[in-house]
Amino acid sequence: MRNFQYGTPTRLIFGKNAIENLPEVLRSLGKKVLLVYGGGSIKKIGLYQKVMELLKDFQVTELSGVQPNPKYESVLAGVKICKEQSIDVVLAVGGGSVIDCSKAVAAGAKYDGDVWDFLAHKAQCKAALPIVDVLTLAATGSEFDAACVISKTETNEKTGFFSKSIFPKVSILDPEYTFSVSPLQTAAGAADGMSHVMEQYFTEESSLLTDGLCEATIRALMANAKVAVKEPENYEARAELMLACSFGCNGILSLGNSRSGWPCHALEHALSAYYDIAHGVGLAIVTPHWMQLVLKKHPEKAMPLFAKYGVNVFGLDSAMDKKQLAEKAIEATAAFYKEIGLPCTLKEAGIDNSRIDEMARHIADNEGLDKAYMALDLADIKEILTASL
Ligand code: NZQ
Ligand code: ZN
Repeated sequence: MRNFQYGTPTRLIFGKNAIENLPEVLRSLGKKVLLVYGGGSIKKIGLYQKVMELLKDFQVTELSGVQPNPKYESVLAGVKICKEQSIDVVLAVGGGSVIDCSKAVAAGAKYDGDVWDFLAHKAQCKAALPIVDVLTLAATGSEFDAACVISKTETNEKTGFFSKSIFPKVSILDPEYTFSVSPLQTAAGAADGMSHVMEQYFTEESSLLTDGLCEATIRALMANAKVAVKEPENYEARAELMLACSFGCNGILSLGNSRSGWPCHALEHALSAYYDIAHGVGLAIVTPHWMQLVLKKHPEKAMPLFAKYGVNVFGLDSAMDKKQLAEKAIEATAAFYKEIGLPCTLKEAGIDNSRIDEMARHIADNEGLDKAYMALDLADIKEILTASL
């Protein structure tokens, strides 16, 4: 086990009516609140109205219309408001895109330069306004991590940064606010949550403990996703999805492990940067093809990992030979995505072959996959994307 330091400063307030804690939470952080939200789903479910009622004693300014795969323009607009109005605290109400945009806004508000410096890794974010969120979609784990991912449409860039300063102070997690998430978005969220775990699990050094945490998390995500896509108001399924997704990106599942290089995320971020598709949809499409390719290219590394995953996640018979187990595990993964209603091909997601070369080059140049545990070169990346068509 490798040395590590670990700390997650975010307080989770989980469960029915957790929102009632919002005024008390915000009171300790300031009076002037920037309320950030997306395209209106929070109004349809009455959450916007509830938040406004709870914030009647605060000075609230709104930044609305944050799009999925949040755009840099929204970040700039938010930073401007924060600076002009001396905002005390950023309140994100929505999914990962709203929370990520809020994190970048909170960081930009405390920085004299262009906040893109953090995203381009030209500067390190050392301070941010406090962030509080009310989560409405189980997927990214942004509510419990120190990352944010922002897109620049004109250059097809989608990039992120990490900073301890952008951990939310408090995340309010009421599974009931996810009842209205569509079956497709629910499935995409579960696929994203699963991918976060797989990216940590398919690596060189791990322990029985972290393997067990990862396997249980994937099993929980799969079982509850199957229920939630059919029964959107099943509280227990929504609750388990929410909690399992929250653990996805905050490091607890891979304490002491080596790093994989997060290859499927590197591949997917180009797809959602070029085509603005849902992140979880892109992951579900590329993951089985990434698995096929690394099984062919790095069998000595991939085979034992995929065989272990097949046995401990899908209950495959450990007596089978490792190659067969690995192949069956890939089939079972793809079949699961299909079962929960996710597109299986890029074509189904509206993507043709016209920009495969360009995307492959972009990934090879920017994502460092040549240094991943199961390294990929330009030809490998192109092969995965082409197989995904
Ligand atoms: O815009 P609104 O109206 O809110 O609608 C959203 C949006 O259309 C809707 N939605 C959210 N909650 C809902 C709801 N619809 C009905 N009922 C509700 N309760 O769902 C749509 C998608 O929302 P979005 O926030 O984009 O989804 P998600 O949470 O999957 O976030 C995706 C973004 O997070 C990034 C992704 O790349 C993508 O940009 N990621 C962030 C990470 C992080 N910060 O750690 C890690 C991830 O790997 C990921 O990269
Ligand atoms: Zn993800």
